[in-house]
Amino acid sequence: MRAILALLCVALVPSSGFAETTTNASRAFLHARHAAVASDSQVASAAGVEMLKSGGNAIDAACATTLALGVTNPFASGLGGGGFALVYWAKTGKTVALDFRETAPAALTARQGGDKGIRPQSGLSVGVPGEVRGLSELLRRFGALPFSRCVEPALRLSRGFAVSPWLAQQIRDEIARNPTTGPDLVAKIFSIGRQAASRLRAGDRVARPALTATLERLRRAGPEAFYRGDIAAAMVDAVSAAGGVLALDDMARYAPVEREPLTTNFLGHRVLSMPPPSAGGTIMVEVLGILANRPEEWRRKGSPTSPAYLHELAEALKHGFADRARFLGDPAFARVPLAHLLDASYHRELAQRNQPDRVLAHDAYGTPARRPTAAPRDGGTAHVSVVDEAGNAVALTTTINLEFGARIAADGIVLNDQMDDFTSERPDVFALAGSDANRPAPGKRPVSSMSPTIVLGDRGVEVVAGAAGGPRIVSATLQILLDVLVFGLDARQAMTAPRIHHQWEPDILYYEPGISIETVRALENKGQRPQSRPDIGKANLIVRSRSGLDAAADPRSGGEPAGY
Ligand code: GLY
Repeated sequence: MRAILALLCVALVPSSGFAETTTNASRAFLHARHAAVASDSQVASAAGVEMLKSGGNAIDAACATTLALGVTNPFASGLGGGGFALVYWAKTGKTVALDFRETAPAALTARQGGDKGIRPQSGLSVGVPGEVRGLSELLRRFGALPFSRCVEPALRLSRGFAVSPWLAQQIRDEIARNPTTGPDLVAKIFSIGRQAASRLRAGDRVARPALTATLERLRRAGPEAFYRGDIAAAMVDAVSAAGGVLALDDMARYAPVEREPLTTNFLGHRVLSMPPPSAGGTIMVEVLGILANRPEEWRRKGSPTSPAYLHELAEALKHGFADRARFLGDPAFARVPLAHLLDASYHRELAQRNQPDRVLAHDAYGTPARRPTAAPRDGGTAHVSVVDEAGNAVALTTTINLEFGARIAADGIVLNDQMDDFTSERPDVFALAGSDANRPAPGKRPVSSMSPTIVLGDRGVEVVAGAAGGPRIVSATLQILLDVLVFGLDARQAMTAPRIHHQWEPDILYYEPGISIETVRALENKGQRPQSRPDIGKANLIVRSRSGLDAAADPRSGGEPAGY
C-alpha cells in the first residue's frame, strides 16, 4: 500500500519551479551506505565527513561542518551567532536538546530602541553569541575528537575557498540593498578592496585572513579564548562603536542550556523537536497533532499538493503560529503553557474546528487567551543534518539572523542581529506576531523559528531534518517530514516538492511556483489568500532507506551533501 502510494505521489508531485541556485541540482542528492552529512555547502559537508573518517562521530562532524559553514557562508551563520542542536546517542537511546541561542546583554531592556523597538542590523540588535560555547559543549559531552581538530577544516577554508553561486548572490543583494556601506562590509569580511568586493563572482577565490587569525587562536588556546581577552574585547568595542550595549561580562557569563527535546508520536514514528525558546518544535507538534486526526482522509484525497491537504495544512499552521504569537517566550522569563499546546485533546479540538471548504475567523485560530501586541526577510540561517555509522544523529540549526547579521565584523567574526527576534510595537522583519512573553529583558533569549528535528523508528534514526528561512523554517521542515512519513516520498522527492507557508498574520498563503494554478484557485475558493514566493525555506535532510542513507541538500540553496 505504502509503495503504491509512493508511486502515485511521484506521479502527482509536479516539479517545484523554484530557481535553483546551484548549476548542478543532481549534486544536491546522495546515497550513502554508512554515514552522511547534509549542509548548505559542499566543502562544509566534506569537513564533516573528514571528521567521520578521522575517528570522529556525528557530533564531531556536525561541529566541523558548522564551523566550516561559518567561513563559506558568512551571510548565514558563524562564530558571531547561535543556534540549537538535537542529538540522538544511539548506544543509550539518549536524546539531548542543546540551546546555544544568543542572550540579551545585561544592559538591554524593553525600553531600549524607543517606541520603535530594536532596529535590526544595528549595534543594539547584537546578542551575546552562543555558537562557540554551544559547539564546545556538544564536543565535551559527545565528541570523540577535540575542538582543535574540529576547527581544522574551517581554518583551512578561511585561507582560501571558491565563492559559491549562493554567496555571490548574497553579496550582490547586500551591495544592492546598501550601495554605500555594502561594499565596505564585504571588503572587510574578505580583506580586499571596495572595488574588488563589488566585482566578486561565483568561482572567484577568496580568503578571510582576520577570521584565520581568530580560528588559529581558538585552535591553540581553546574555545574559551572567544569569550575572554582580546577576541571578546574586539567584538565588544565594535558593537559599542555601533551604539550597542554588549559588554565583556556578558561574554564571560554566556552559557548554553540543556533542554528536554519535545517528543510526539506521529503515525507510529517518534518525532523529536526543539522546545522553547524555539517556537518551531511547539508549532510542529501542534500541526502534526491536528493532521494526525484525519490522515486517511487527506491521504485518500490525493497527493502532497492536493488542495484538500494544502488547505488542512495551512489551517493547522495558522493554529500553530497564532499560539506562537500569543504564548511563546524564553521559558526562564515567561510562563509558556506548553502542556496545553502539546496536548493531543487540544489538537483534536482544533482539528474539529477546521472546515474543509472554508477558512475560520481570524481569532478562531489557536487559543485566544492573550492578544498579541504586535504583528512578528531571512537568509541568515544554516541547518546541518548528520547520521554516522553507529546510528548517532545530530540536527543542528544556527543563525546570525538576517543576511550578514548586524553587518558588524570584528576579528573576522560577523556579529548577529538576533535581538530583532524579540517582540516590540514594530513588527520584526519576518512580520511575526508576538506577545509580552517575548519582550526583551537582560539575559533573555528571543523566540526562534529554528526547528532541528529527528525522527526515530524501529531501526533507530529514520529522518534528520531542518531548514533556514525565518518562519518558513517550520513550514518547510514540516512538509518534508509529512512528505516522507505520510506520502512515502524519498529524500529527493520530498526536497524538491513545492511548498506552502502560512503564519496566521499576515493572512497570506504563500506558495512556491510549482503548485498548479488549479490548486491555487481551489485554495482561493476555500477562502485562502494565495501569493506566490520563489522559495519557502532551505532545508537539509537525511532519510534512512533500505540500503543506507539518502541525503538531500536543498537545490534552493545550492548546498551539497557528502557521505560514504
Ligand atoms: N533569527 C531567526 C530565527 O531564529 O528564527
